[in-house]
Amino acid sequence: MSRRPLIAGNWKMNGSQNEADTLLSALIHGVNQDKSILQKADLAVFPPYLYLSQAQELLKSSGIHWGAQDVSEYPSGAYTGEISANMLADFACRYVIIGHSERRTLFGDTNERIVQKIKAALSVKLTPILCVGESLQQRKADHTFDVIREQLNAVFNAHGIAVFNDMVVAYEPVWAIGTGMTATPEQAQAVHLFIRHEIAQHDAKVGHKLRILYGGSVKPDNAAGLFAQPDIDGALVGGASLDATAFLTIAKAL
Ligand code: PGA
Repeated sequence: MSRRPLIAGNWKMNGSQNEADTLLSALIHGVNQDKSILQKADLAVFPPYLYLSQAQELLKSSGIHWGAQDVSEYPSGAYTGEISANMLADFACRYVIIGHSERRTLFGDTNERIVQKIKAALSVKLTPILCVGESLQQRKADHTFDVIREQLNAVFNAHGIAVFNDMVVAYEPVWAIGTGMTATPEQAQAVHLFIRHEIAQHDAKVGHKLRILYGGSVKPDNAAGLFAQPDIDGALVGGASLDATAFLTIAKAL
């Protein structure tokens, strides 16, 4: 497979300076012990904003990347509480998660705002990890593909197909996030293939190259089954990314 896998750890609003230090140090130790991990895949962590400087300091020569969990759509100015793409670039972030379902449902991130955030990220060469996924209600009503098509089309209609060259997509069924209810490898593969086809119908090369991660209760014991699917190119890991051993075991399952 020509696509290089990515294992991304979304810490969400967890941790402290001490815990970040312990977790980052354990990850560095782990990749130093087993060089095959970074030979096979990219690894990235997404701490809360406040710990990005710490991540930069500790990870800078480790081969592990870091990024942010969100970004403002605005470049600078009177936007109290917001963090700009330029600020993330200033801390050498490589990636930024955009449109996570928690941002969509709890903090009002609409498709329109997500499109603006993607533009902001790309303007400073940050790689957006665009999250898409359906709720349980939408899945039960058989609307999964419609919901995902709409989420992808919002980006495509605003920015064209070429932006997908510079992005990662994460399929995260909302019903599987933090619930312990993972999609089966077959359920996930069906949606990953759908996403790839949606992109490939505009440009086959872009579709083929696009890294599509699965997220939603990925754990050491279900990772290998998911990664065995042809269109699953890694994982966006929440809960299990707070435990260095679990996170590294997931990476080793590739
Ligand atoms: P989870 O979270 O692994 O805890 O389900 C995944 C995510 O929200 O990215």
